[in-house]
Amino acid sequence: MTALVIAVDGPAAAGKGTLARRLAAHLGLPYLDTGLLYRATGRRVLDAGGDPADPVAATDAARTLTPQDFVRPDLRGPAADDAASKVAAIPAVRAELLDFQRRFGGAHGAVLDGRDIGTVVFPDARVKLFVTASAEERARRRHAELAGSGRAPKLDEVSAEMRARDARDAQRDVAPLVPADDAVLLDTTGLDADEAFAEALRIVESARGK
Ligand code: DC
Repeated sequence: MTALVIAVDGPAAAGKGTLARRLAAHLGLPYLDTGLLYRATGRRVLDAGGDPADPVAATDAARTLTPQDFVRPDLRGPAADDAASKVAAIPAVRAELLDFQRRFGGAHGAVLDGRDIGTVVFPDARVKLFVTASAEERARRRHAELAGSGRAPKLDEVSAEMRARDARDAQRDVAPLVPADDAVLLDTTGLDADEAFAEALRIVESARGK
């Protein structure tokens, strides 16, 4: 039997990271937050004083990522969000990062969360979840997360930034944010973290049983 790969895709702040991490821990699988690859790439471009939308600078940054790039403390927050979404729209950046993701999940299975795991990275994944929540609820969650980490931008600023990022992620030409045809949709709008996890586990078990 092929390795168990669970693809967890969806827009920003839909709860997919929390869910994917919990699923991985529960099932004893490695977990990869693929957004970190794009965040670290964007950060490296910013560090060098470059423009994250510049294909040459961004592709070079993606090609030369090292493990240290993933443990830096400034990978979250509005500047990193924006830079990540810009480098992620560049086809050569995505091509650079593809192999690592495939190798991570291919050998022994894994839970990966991102935007294109079920459509591009692992189109044959045994389980595909597409996690969503209303735009209002996602903005509220991201705002609470930022406030919890000491930053407190206005809710409408967070909401506007998130909509712009979602639009860029969904409208780009390469690997846009769309559910795979065979993904199961999980709307977490009215669910707390435990309820969302229980529902996700039910979907995973039912997909594995097929
Ligand atoms: O999941 P996240 O918010 O950390 O992702 C940061 C950005 O990276 C997001 O705007 C879209 C991009 N991304 C992507 O294009 N493909 C992925 N598999 C993961 C993230």
